[in-house]
Amino acid sequence: MYNSKIIGLGHYVPDHVVTNNDLSKLMETSDEWIQERTGIKERRWVKEGDGDTTATMGVKAAKIAIERAGIDKDDIDFIVFATLSPDMYFPGPGVQVQHALNIKTVGAIDIRNQCSGFVYGISVADNFIKTGMYKNVLVIGSELHSHGLDKTTRGRGVSVIFGDGAGAAVLSREENTSKGILSTHLHSQGEHAEELVVKAPGMGTRWVTDIISENNPDDESYFPYMNGQFVFKNAVVRFSEVIMEGLMNNNLEVNDIDMLIPHQANLRIAQFIQRKFKLEDHQVFNNIQKYGNTTAASIPIALTEAWEQGRINEGDTVVLAAFGSGFTWGSVIIKW
Ligand code: UT7
Repeated sequence: MYNSKIIGLGHYVPDHVVTNNDLSKLMETSDEWIQERTGIKERRWVKEGDGDTTATMGVKAAKIAIERAGIDKDDIDFIVFATLSPDMYFPGPGVQVQHALNIKTVGAIDIRNQCSGFVYGISVADNFIKTGMYKNVLVIGSELHSHGLDKTTRGRGVSVIFGDGAGAAVLSREENTSKGILSTHLHSQGEHAEELVVKAPGMGTRWVTDIISENNPDDESYFPYMNGQFVFKNAVVRFSEVIMEGLMNNNLEVNDIDMLIPHQANLRIAQFIQRKFKLEDHQVFNNIQKYGNTTAASIPIALTEAWEQGRINEGDTVVLAAFGSGFTWGSVIIKW
């Protein structure tokens, strides 16, 4: 048995900054409302014509992560891609990365766990490495939300929150099993699947031919729906639970956390967790103020920035935690 460890990190966000005031020109909202409820000041949205997609942003983040890992692209044994906003209905973007990076014909898997996607992806990669099946696994989280949001007042409860971007990590074999990824913890509760959902296109209840022929501008099923307060209440409970589960599994305590990287869903959720666990500011990393909620990309973007700023050092106990649509949630406990 081996452990896995993160040996390279990278992120990419589109250049185009969209401020809260920009949004107030599109819908009835205000900088004050958005900042007070979410902490978000601005987000990046792909600009028409820039050519960024979920796959291309993922590739850009991956190139940086691979370079920093100090390995060659052909050393990658497997690709894991987490997103809820793939370029195509199928195939998923994992294979687009294999092609764009011109990596030999290694396996590529797509993860559909929304805000928990990167945590699920890390768990998949970690377990492939632990068993010895693969040595180096590329894990990407990338989202292009801005093409799929209802940018009218009807959609304001959701559209002001989400941003575009990508993050990536290269995981590699670690022979010292007291280092690297110590454990991963995954959960789901499908009874709440429709509390945060994009229903279409889906083959479950409607024929694609009907959807096309209806061409109904009032059809909201293509836009994200979120029961915000219900999601918020569940998030704070599940974040706390799954962080504690991870710590206890490794005989660690809250005080042992050197860096908590929560999924950037809402600054108020992260602050609630910080207060509950009595963590100091230097023990928690947030960047939702700049990027909004980038779903599967939020943890790898935040992890990369925290590392770039020298806030994660060798020997640190780093905790990743996510909660979102599904509901799905999870945590990763790392000895850096
Ligand atoms: O990442 C996946 C997991 N996601 C989350 O964890 C998100 C969890 N939920 C949240 O972060 C919050 O529930 C939101 C930020 C989404 C919403 O905040 P809230 O405090 O729960 O607001 P609300 O939905 O209860 O809406 C309060 C009021 C409503 O008006 P009335 O009915 O009180 O007159 C909304 O219509 O605010 C109104 N509103 C807005 N006003 C201005 C909703 N969105 C906006 C907006 N600008 N963008």
